[in-house]
Amino acid sequence: MQRVLSGMRPTGKTHLGHLHGVFENWRQLQQRYECFYFAADWHALTSEYRDPLVIQETMGEMFVDWLSVGIDPEKSTIFVQSWVKEHAELHLLLSMITPLGWLERNPTYKEQQEELKGRDLGTYGFLGYPVLQAADILIYKAHYVPVGKDQLPHLEITREIARRFAFLYRQVFPEPQALLTEAPSVPGIDGRKMSKSYDNAIYLADPPEVIAQKVSQMFTDPQRGRRTDPGRPEVCSVFTLHKIYSPPETLREIDEECRRAGIGCVDCKRILTKNLCDYLAPLQERRRHYLGRLSEVRDIVEEGSARARRVASATMEEVREAMGMAW
Ligand code: TRP
Ligand code: SF4
Repeated sequence: MQRVLSGMRPTGKTHLGHLHGVFENWRQLQQRYECFYFAADWHALTSEYRDPLVIQETMGEMFVDWLSVGIDPEKSTIFVQSWVKEHAELHLLLSMITPLGWLERNPTYKEQQEELKGRDLGTYGFLGYPVLQAADILIYKAHYVPVGKDQLPHLEITREIARRFAFLYRQVFPEPQALLTEAPSVPGIDGRKMSKSYDNAIYLADPPEVIAQKVSQMFTDPQRGRRTDPGRPEVCSVFTLHKIYSPPETLREIDEECRRAGIGCVDCKRILTKNLCDYLAPLQERRRHYLGRLSEVRDIVEEGSARARRVASATMEEVREAMGMAW
């Protein structure tokens, strides 16, 4: 079976954007591939090193979320990056052969520094972020890496490093390919892409009252100032969410009624809240289940990390051999 690998930085709570953009895809991939999913806590540290507590605080709930959406530890290997020290060794060895220019030219390097200003990201560790990511991927000889578009430059660097390794020594790693996620775009409360940093997110952990409150604040068609103005569902983020959570009949009805001012935004939002809460209810039930059994969750992750370590250490033997570090 071909191998899939992906990671997520534990830097905050999980929201609906993660659910539809990442987890539902991860869950599906389990049917066809041998999957490795991990918490990239060292990557989180590259930006959170001043207040690293957020990493520990987020990690447990992140795994709870994975299990609750159906990432199945019987099928997939779930682990913590820093519990598999081999990633650090491969990162070091790959850093010997990675030209500085590849890292300095990396577009996400400059973008992230711009975006996360207020933090000093002028560190050695942050520059090496893609080398660590390459180590994560190559150490499992992954064939496919499900990622968003923003991660494509990192994957390209991974492929270049794999080729350079093969050129300098011998082929140990297959060249991994990106699996671009065809996910619905999930708008936040303000209509921009849902993101923690925009403070516009609906979280998996939000109780129904909070969801109702957030939905009631959502931006709608800006041209629909009054209840009697007709609206345009195609420019309304409430409608975009309806497309995810409401059945086709409801969609058709809202589409029609909105255009002739037959339904008001308050009622439309009330329907969305109901459908969204119903959709999340079973997931939230499973979250509560796992949150009450955090030590079992920890056991699952420990077992996964042990399994990951076996694969990683076998690869490292080959790498040391190839690089003349096997005396
Ligand atoms: N950089 C990725 C992100 O921010 C997280 C990540 C770290 C990752 N290592 C990885 C993703 C390896 C895929 C494969 O989303
Ligand atoms: Fe958007 Fe619904 Fe209002 Fe139409 S009725 S503008 S779809 S919130």
